[in-house]
Amino acid sequence: CHEGRVFSGIQPTGIPHLGNYLGALESWVAIQDDYSSVLYSIVDLHSITQPQNSELLRNNIVDMAASLLACGIDPTRSILFQQSLMKSMQKNEGSVGLYTYPVLQAADILLYKSTYVPVGEDQIQHLELAQDLARIFNNKYGELFPEPCALLSSTRKVKSLRDPASKMSKSDPQTLATIFLTDTPDDIVFKIRRAVTDFTSEVTFDPVGRPGVANLVSIHAAVTGQAVEDVVRLANGLDTGKYKTVVAEAVVQRLEPIRQEIQRLKADKCHLEKVLAEGAEKARSLAAPVMQEVRKRVGF
Ligand code: ADP
Ligand code: NA
Repeated sequence: CHEGRVFSGIQPTGIPHLGNYLGALESWVAIQDDYSSVLYSIVDLHSITQPQNSELLRNNIVDMAASLLACGIDPTRSILFQQSLMKSMQKNEGSVGLYTYPVLQAADILLYKSTYVPVGEDQIQHLELAQDLARIFNNKYGELFPEPCALLSSTRKVKSLRDPASKMSKSDPQTLATIFLTDTPDDIVFKIRRAVTDFTSEVTFDPVGRPGVANLVSIHAAVTGQAVEDVVRLANGLDTGKYKTVVAEAVVQRLEPIRQEIQRLKADKCHLEKVLAEGAEKARSLAAPVMQEVRKRVGF
């Protein structure tokens, strides 16, 4: 187990999709085995700068908490909490103008003296802000914050099933483009059957020339934990139509236990609230001495 502390956050924007799972959440789960101190935050504060339906936000937080637990985030091994619950326990609230995503993310990373931050390549700039702030603070007020470094997830981006030139995303208006963790086996089969391929029937891996088929191959490899070459070799002799059935089956096998667990957890909101409340309490106890030290050095 590595020393140091891992921190990452995810916005409560509804049920995660297959791209979120393979690109981020799956590695969040694995990180619990490798690091002794791990914090995962449902980052809901940025959304107070935008008009928000509070019931919808509440629902989205429940969905995200249930999804993270169902994916394998274990509250006995990592601190799972809701950012606003933790921050509202602190006396000095920042001004609403500070509640922008990159600033809050940097503040959160430092607040827990995090040393590792799992990020996708698209989020490295956000981490640079936290690194700069740590350096600036340490120079001015004496060494306090470790400079956090990135844990880069190496997974290839999952592409939209309908437009393999763009990434799979929750905000894709095409309803068949995105597989959500709560999709039923029928939903998954239906969506994968309608995934865009091309006019060649054999299965190959050529992300540039055949992005639709390559996307299916890399999804297949990712959900089964196999290498891309092995998946292609095993698909030898199948046409893309038959291959879609194989891929759909593999995705269903991987996601169905997660879907059922999300259902089960969502039926017990009290339990979810309790997990989040306990998480906030643990996060607070880590942050409080850091904040105290910051106040002492800065003099407020
Ligand atoms: P979205 O793009 O659907 O809005 P987010 O921006 O909330 O998703 O991303 C949450 C996490 O999931 C990030 O770590 C991001 O890198 C990862 N992620 C999002 N979409 C994909 C994808 N299509 N493939 C792989 N990882 C993804
Ligand atoms: Na995004």
